[in-house]
Amino acid sequence: MSITTFIPDWVRRCAVILIGVLAATTVAANASPAPARADSPHLVFHVLGDLHANANGSPYNDHIRAALRDLNSVYPAAALVINGDLTDHGTAADYRVLNDLFANNPTPATILKGIGNHEYFAKSGVANDKQRFLDQAGRSSVYTQSVIGGYQFILLGGEDVPPAEYAKSPWTAILSDAQLDWLASTLAGGDASRPAFVFLHQPLENVAQRDRLREILRANPRTLFFWSHWHTSLRVNDSRLLTDADRFVSVHTGAVAYLWDANHVKLPDGNHGLQVEVYSDMVVVRGRDIASRQWIPEFSFRVPNWVQGAKPSGYSGTHRPIRKISPIATRYGKTW
Ligand SMILES: [Fe+2]
Repeated sequence: MSITTFIPDWVRRCAVILIGVLAATTVAANASPAPARADSPHLVFHVLGDLHANANGSPYNDHIRAALRDLNSVYPAAALVINGDLTDHGTAADYRVLNDLFANNPTPATILKGIGNHEYFAKSGVANDKQRFLDQAGRSSVYTQSVIGGYQFILLGGEDVPPAEYAKSPWTAILSDAQLDWLASTLAGGDASRPAFVFLHQPLENVAQRDRLREILRANPRTLFFWSHWHTSLRVNDSRLLTDADRFVSVHTGAVAYLWDANHVKLPDGNHGLQVEVYSDMVVVRGRDIASRQWIPEFSFRVPNWVQGAKPSGYSGTHRPIRKISPIATRYGKTW
């Protein structure tokens, strides 16, 4: 006689239902991830920070080469944004090395270059250092807008360095009132139904005018703000690397030259960047471990488009709901 003979019928029925639910849950957890999207993105671009091209010969140059080749192989993007620290010392020789790397490796047709703190490391005077960057970037201002596929790409940049820092080690970005006024009017004049992509090498913490900048971005929650500078591994669990605490979405880009881990131990082989996919109703951001040629599931997420003044129906929160994608999403049903 089976022990189940003594179990009341209703208990057995509940047990069968429970086992069924558990089995279904297990299957769901083990199944291949469903494609995030069946449609094609409107636009795909890549973001790299802190390349640190170096004319004296450096593993950093190898990292840049690997990054250009890896990102081109995963998706032939419309644009590549270099978010500051293009070079190690901001010298003409460093820029030549970087331009040779661009010329001899696959790149998108459009490369947007932002200024970082290392562009001021040549110590030939702030004005001269800045002009050297502008000459090789082919423009007359560190801040500028490009419209790609109908989307705003707004490059910001430090125009000056605190004198005490300049003499020692430039770190903080100084943004002029003119730049901040221009940012406010450029965002206000853009298409409020589309996300805007804003790039600055330094996070708000390292901007002298951080309060005004935060205020402008906060008034434009359709903004995704990309920053670099810290070289933090995108695998580090630090809420500052991805946050919407100020309504706009703030995203760290990782770094190409080297990374720091959670204990601030240097990872000389570290090489991280981002792929950004723009769809009609959301932006998908994927962290990329270029050194191992793998996506970073813990730093891959989607941001629903939040049309200014019109939250998604049924959503009552004050922030856009960022959703981590895990496991990594697929495109056209194919796992990347
Ligand atoms: Fe850097």
